[in-house]
Amino acid sequence: MKFFTSCLLAVTLASRSIALPRTDGAYNFQLRESITPPRGWQRLSAAPADHIIHLRIGLPQSRFDELEKHLYEVSDPFHHRYGQHLSKAEVDALVAPKKQSLDLVDEWLASFGLGEQDFYRSSAKDWVTIRVPISVAEKMLNTKYHVWKYGETDDHLIRTTDYSLPDHLNEHVELIQPTTIFARWSKMKATFHLDKDIFEEIPIAKFVSSTSQDLGLADGVTVVDPSCNATVTIRCLQQLYKTGNYKPRASEKNSIGISSYLEEFVNEQDLKTFYLEQRPDAINSTFTFISVNDGLNNQTLDEAGMEANLDAQFAFGLSFPTPAIAYSTAGRPPFNPDILTPLNTNEPYADWLDYVLSHENPPLTISTSYGESEQTVPEDYARRVCAGIAQLGARGVSVLFSSGDFGVGDGIEDPDSHTCFTNDDRNITRFMPTFPASCPFATAVGGTNDIPEVAVFFSGGGFSDYFQRPRYQAHAVENYLDNLPYGIYEGKFNKAFPDVAALGRRFRIWWRGKPMSIGGTSASAPAFAAVVALLNDVLLSQNKKPLGFLNPWLYATGFSGLNDIMIGNNPGCGTPGFNATVGWDPITGLGTPNFEKMRKLLPKN
Ligand SMILES: *[C@@H]1O[C@H](CO)[C@@H](O)[C@H](O)[C@H]1NC(C)=O
Ligand SMILES: *[C@@H]1O[C@H](CO)[C@@H](O)[C@H](O)[C@H]1NC(C)=O
Ligand SMILES: *[C@@H]1O[C@H](CO)[C@@H](O)[C@H](O)[C@H]1NC(C)=O
Ligand SMILES: *[C@@H]1O[C@H](CO)[C@@H](O)[C@H](O)[C@H]1NC(C)=O
Ligand SMILES: *[C@@H]1O[C@H](CO)[C@@H](O)[C@H](O)[C@H]1NC(C)=O
Repeated sequence: MKFFTSCLLAVTLASRSIALPRTDGAYNFQLRESITPPRGWQRLSAAPADHIIHLRIGLPQSRFDELEKHLYEVSDPFHHRYGQHLSKAEVDALVAPKKQSLDLVDEWLASFGLGEQDFYRSSAKDWVTIRVPISVAEKMLNTKYHVWKYGETDDHLIRTTDYSLPDHLNEHVELIQPTTIFARWSKMKATFHLDKDIFEEIPIAKFVSSTSQDLGLADGVTVVDPSCNATVTIRCLQQLYKTGNYKPRASEKNSIGISSYLEEFVNEQDLKTFYLEQRPDAINSTFTFISVNDGLNNQTLDEAGMEANLDAQFAFGLSFPTPAIAYSTAGRPPFNPDILTPLNTNEPYADWLDYVLSHENPPLTISTSYGESEQTVPEDYARRVCAGIAQLGARGVSVLFSSGDFGVGDGIEDPDSHTCFTNDDRNITRFMPTFPASCPFATAVGGTNDIPEVAVFFSGGGFSDYFQRPRYQAHAVENYLDNLPYGIYEGKFNKAFPDVAALGRRFRIWWRGKPMSIGGTSASAPAFAAVVALLNDVLLSQNKKPLGFLNPWLYATGFSGLNDIMIGNNPGCGTPGFNATVGWDPITGLGTPNFEKMRKLLPKN
């Protein structure tokens, strides 16, 4: 099909007028993607021509295979290059697009009057984001955008079901979104789980912690306060995971970050109250707030985020005095189809990754307690987000994600009322893996409860539909599958998750000036991440390299420093889910941390 760019635009872009396009350009289009809209979405009117859309154009990363090879070498404790992480410049060079791709894409954009001043480029230039009116996007992609509405909700999106590219760009553009992404923002879940005793006031005195030095825990002896069964505090985690006797020494080199979305941010006053109660020696400490794309940070107490508070209080509290960073990434604007203001309706993970990858020194451990059903993220997009996580790993960053709070899918065991159906016209029953927990370069953290620990029923786990099983998992996962009752679940048994676990229930946090009890793998991820930060402290204080991408070490040798969880199952999708068992399982992974044991197993790098 032929398409001629003609007198397109007399619009303003970024409040500045832009040049008129060339009118001699004629492109042969090739269909790039055509999808059936997911269930529930209904097409309304044509999209307003002058509505501004942020288009994120992914250029192929020229040498990602090489990056992956480096990543596995520097993360494999038996490889001579273990710990020799790459610099930002080295990683950027490996994922930079080919010059020809850059030139051809620039030339194509120039034919619509767009120049360098209109581009937002990622640090490696493998993404370029532009802001254009729908009328221009439609001509660039030879498509029609519509306003879509989800069921009886107020969720509206401007999307298309197919897009094309000039055929000479076929090998030079990997994907463009938002085009066919129909993920609902509500699908990106903060993975917290409210306990029944939410808001129950518990007298503060009961929880006042001793400083970590006077816990007096002897190595190998489990002394966990009986109250930890009902209320989990910093002190409980110090006792259970045996970090209480450790005094960090490498704070000038170490760091831990948490990543927030969905208008969540950490409330400083709540954090102080929490420290006063559970970590008095941290009372004067601060953290660095980083807003990505104007992510919010309204310190008004009644706007404090429950998830962000949980993450900060436990990640920062347990790893204190490790320097702490809190990100808040915007990216879920209230959508009003009648308003023509610029809106960014991209997936915020990619925006956050662009940001953090553009910095020389990202935090060495980063915990994120958000996820969504893998099937709501287009596969090519999920792969690029996962590739961004690999880039962080290659640079020596440990990236942890909560594994989800709905067992193998929706948390519903009753076969007659489950909701795990494929999001397409096949409408078949399927387990629903969580993304980014399913990304092989992330460390996914599942949940436990009670003392002694057993798997918590909601712990997200299973197998990716997109990512193949990485080699580091081969042995552990085959061992599990060999013992699975014959023919019980059909599937491809690809990349398996979670990798590890930590307590995920009855955490006592402060939120909007009050104590409350909260749980979820949202609690597990920052708890595990804090232990990783302390392990990094051990390494850094000996002038060694930080752990970086954890999984190859965890599956090779680190697992013997974990408490194997062998009881519990994670129902969902009309089934009882998987069982916890000896060794790795798709509910608690390799198990929960024992800091004292893990530090003795640290790779000798
Ligand atoms: C916090 O700062 C106050 C005021 O400077 C000081 O009196 C107090 O000892 C500090 N507390 C800790 C635990 O460092
Ligand atoms: C922050 O919260 C206060 C009080 O609710 C409100 O007045 C103010 O508009 C908020 N600021 C932002 C930027 O949302
Ligand atoms: C998908 O299948 C389930 C179970 O047969 C049914 O309840 C549901 O209505 C179907 N949904 C669609 C959109 O066809
Ligand atoms: C913790 O609670 C669980 C479940 O209620 C119970 O089985 C276990 O014995 C309790 N542990 C202790 C140490 O009280
Ligand atoms: C889980 O264990 C139960 C009880 O032993 C067994 O009936 C079931 O088949 C097991 N399920 C899986 C997925 O292993």
